[in-house]
Amino acid sequence: MASARSMSKTNDATLEQILGAHGGGQLLEIDAAGQGPRILRAASARPESPLDLSSLSAGLAPGTPLLVQVPSQPSSQDLTAWRNALWPEFHVGALWTSVAGQLTQTTLQGVQANKGSGQVAGVILVAAPRHEVLAPKATMEKFDANAAGWNGFPGTPSYRHFRWMRRTVADLAGKSSFKRILDFGSGAGWVGIEAALKNPGASLAAFDPSPEMVRIAGENAQAQNISDFTGRVGFGEAPPFPGAGEAQFDLVLSSGVISFSSDPEAWLDGLVATLAPGATLVIGDAHRGSLGFKRRRQKKPLLPVRELSAWRREDVRRALERRGLSFECWGGYQLTRPVPELMHLNETRLKGLLAWPLLLLNQSAAALNRNLGLPGQDRFDSWVMRLSRPLA
Ligand SMILES: C[S@@+](CC[C@H](N)C(=O)[O-])C[C@H]1O[C@@H](n2cnc3c(N)ncnc32)[C@H](O)[C@@H]1O
Repeated sequence: MASARSMSKTNDATLEQILGAHGGGQLLEIDAAGQGPRILRAASARPESPLDLSSLSAGLAPGTPLLVQVPSQPSSQDLTAWRNALWPEFHVGALWTSVAGQLTQTTLQGVQANKGSGQVAGVILVAAPRHEVLAPKATMEKFDANAAGWNGFPGTPSYRHFRWMRRTVADLAGKSSFKRILDFGSGAGWVGIEAALKNPGASLAAFDPSPEMVRIAGENAQAQNISDFTGRVGFGEAPPFPGAGEAQFDLVLSSGVISFSSDPEAWLDGLVATLAPGATLVIGDAHRGSLGFKRRRQKKPLLPVRELSAWRREDVRRALERRGLSFECWGGYQLTRPVPELMHLNETRLKGLLAWPLLLLNQSAAALNRNLGLPGQDRFDSWVMRLSRPLA
């Protein structure tokens, strides 16, 4: 079993530089107080035995990462093996290396060279406790900071696709006429708005942990002439709807949210509590078993936390059935690799030339899947399903 050692003081100038660049002086201050980052110096490029994750995380000071120093020149596959070995206790968010005496940091946002001078032996993985990465405050801040991005950018080649995905989720609700609609983890509100547009006169409620998202959702609803809109800030684990004296909803939609939850069981309890007897639930999320996501998990050391924490749709279905809901149907949408890669290329290099063909491909595949089950779910990066709450 690999062992960890807690650093009460580090004489290692390189690590001090890395910590300084990664978290600012704060980490060094914690270090000086004797509660510094924990460092696991690995003996080989790949983990040789399962890690004792609970001893690695026990007593780690809040806000302090675990650093894993992997020797020699590990390959992406080696680093991916470390990422997997550290999950689910830790999420690897950054890698540090030195190239020609310059420190380089790699995160999901890209590679940043010239982060100072220094020499790192091998590669250092910066792993944060998963409960901190998914903590409510971190979620709120992350989505607040990137709220405009989640609203889509009209006029860009991928905007039609962005709106189509939200419409596809809303369409699964079917043709009943709904009166009270809730968008559960609404982001910029488009899923709920699409549903409300199909049900004229319905009231639309939406909530999200990010106040900025809720503000944008309100603006979007207004721009679409949805007059009966109420937005609130809150989390699915303790939803802010229905408030005291308010009725439950006859249609609840939640798209791409459960994989961000710090406590999916509590989140599902919160979700089911918003449904009136007889209500319809439409829920969708990333499909972790898609060919593209599987490949990314095998090859990429750094992945967004949701790609690791997403539940399989079968498990979500079972968890909702255990809570008394009846399954009605499901479908896949948004084709997997190489379509997302082509869409990226289309956006960045091809000036939108492939926007229509790619959208048509996605639309046809989703329609075929819904009607005939083809292509199979693993060809899609997203799933969506409909369930209902029985009347009695
Ligand atoms: C991928 S975005 C999806 C937004 C929107 N539903 C859509 O389909 O465009 C995920 C959203 O879930 C929200 N979220 C994250 N954790 C949540 C939680 N525990 N409960 C409710 N919403 C959450 C985020 O703030 C973010 O707006």
